[in-house]
Amino acid sequence: MRVVDPREELERERERLSQRVPVSGAGVERDRHEMDTGELMGPEDDSGPLEMGGAPEMEVDGEASIFESGTVLEGKFEIQYRVGRGAMGEVFLAKDVNLKRSVAVKALSALHRSDEVVGRFRSEAESMARVDHPNVVKIYSFGTHQEKPYFVMEFLDGESLAEYIDRRLVMQEVVHLDEVIGLLSQVCRGLGAIHAQGIVHRDVKPANVMITTTYRVALADFGLVGMITDDESQEMAVYGTPVYIAPERFDSRPLTPELAHSCDIYALGIILYELLTGEAPFDHDDTMTLLGMHASAVVPRASKLRPDMPPAIDDVIRKAMAKDPEDRYESAEAFRRALLDARETGMSLEAIENEFTALIVEPDPKAAVSKVRAVKMAYPTATVLTVADGDMALVFIREMRPELIIFDGDAPGLNALELCALLQEEKLLVGSQVVVLSPRADPAEARYLKELGVTEVLLKPISGPDLVKAIRAR
Ligand SMILES: Nc1ncnc2c1ncn2[C@@H]1O[C@H](COP(=O)(O)OP(=O)(O)O)[C@@H](O)[C@H]1O
Ligand SMILES: [Mg+2]
Repeated sequence: MRVVDPREELERERERLSQRVPVSGAGVERDRHEMDTGELMGPEDDSGPLEMGGAPEMEVDGEASIFESGTVLEGKFEIQYRVGRGAMGEVFLAKDVNLKRSVAVKALSALHRSDEVVGRFRSEAESMARVDHPNVVKIYSFGTHQEKPYFVMEFLDGESLAEYIDRRLVMQEVVHLDEVIGLLSQVCRGLGAIHAQGIVHRDVKPANVMITTTYRVALADFGLVGMITDDESQEMAVYGTPVYIAPERFDSRPLTPELAHSCDIYALGIILYELLTGEAPFDHDDTMTLLGMHASAVVPRASKLRPDMPPAIDDVIRKAMAKDPEDRYESAEAFRRALLDARETGMSLEAIENEFTALIVEPDPKAAVSKVRAVKMAYPTATVLTVADGDMALVFIREMRPELIIFDGDAPGLNALELCALLQEEKLLVGSQVVVLSPRADPAEARYLKELGVTEVLLKPISGPDLVKAIRAR
């Protein structure tokens, strides 16, 4: 008897859900037969006659890999192993041997050398380079190695939001509403920064959102980006992921540039629904039926599957997923605000008064876990967020205004003094409890920190129970 591992099933299901396919040819009548038979071709099959070139590709697990491990790019990025694989290329973990840090390399197979595919790959890299935001993956370099185009970006140590949702499903855990909001809030920030550069992502979906082990969320995969001024009718085909595609993208409706980014807002609504319920609002094996649902089906209420959530959140999902882009939120920020407001409507007055957010700044994931535990002991209902460095801490404190901040003195980026000086200037520490864990006893520094608004400076290492005591004592 074959034992079915539910994770395998999920994997297959997820693969299907995340498949990116051309959903129509612009100006061309959609071919119903092609859609119905499920013989949709991925972008890779669209690249014209295959052209061989460059070095032969090495086999990994019986499949060709674009770069062999040990390959060195630009004399400094040494390929280690493959971490991801998509329609047109692969993503590798590599080492920047000069700076001694991990980086990620995304490479296009030599099989995909049509001008269209290479052009799209280049615009993916160029678009990433235009955006500088903590919630968007950063790019470091672009090049060609043995005729294979690649780019180098920051390595995000963690998993995709798709994997995260699956993991929670397998463990039969629901994602807590505050966690959903904390994750999505970061997606919105990143997306807002992309739109601010006049770029539409067009492939916003859980598989393209990374969550690091320290809970930083970053948008990745600019493979389908477009410029807000793009005339979509000029394109050969509309690519997208059918589960996440907004109706106006496949019905060739003419859109003003002001509404071009609206398809990404639509996808935010879907991700919100999926995070809350573990399933997509619209899904069907048959792509045409699925597109039809996007075009005309009523968006189901997530609250039917999640009785613990305020029904106002259903309205947020429905507005984001309005059929007409004009009826959606005008920006990712407007969506984010509406989501925060909707959460409050569902809270009792007591819950709002007791709302308590803690931020832990800790580069070591293991230590972060024990600190989260300590905070939960002291404040059981607290929402606890963790970041790995002082720079991210600043971003979070500005956004979340946490009641409690625990700063590890060994965190990279802004140090405690720099961070607190900036926060004091912006009057962001007023009323917050700030605990700095210092690696060394330095009375002068401790005094200065306290002048800047730090509540307590403690010497490292500190035990869990001592930390609980320290943060309880106010
Ligand atoms: N910067 C990164 N750091 C770590 N892993 C990454 C990074 N970028 C992508 N990946 C991994 O590779 C997978 C595919 O990357 P993506 O850019 O989405 O490519 P595709 O266009 O093929 O979908 C992701 O789902 C993720 O698992
Ligand atoms: Mg992807």
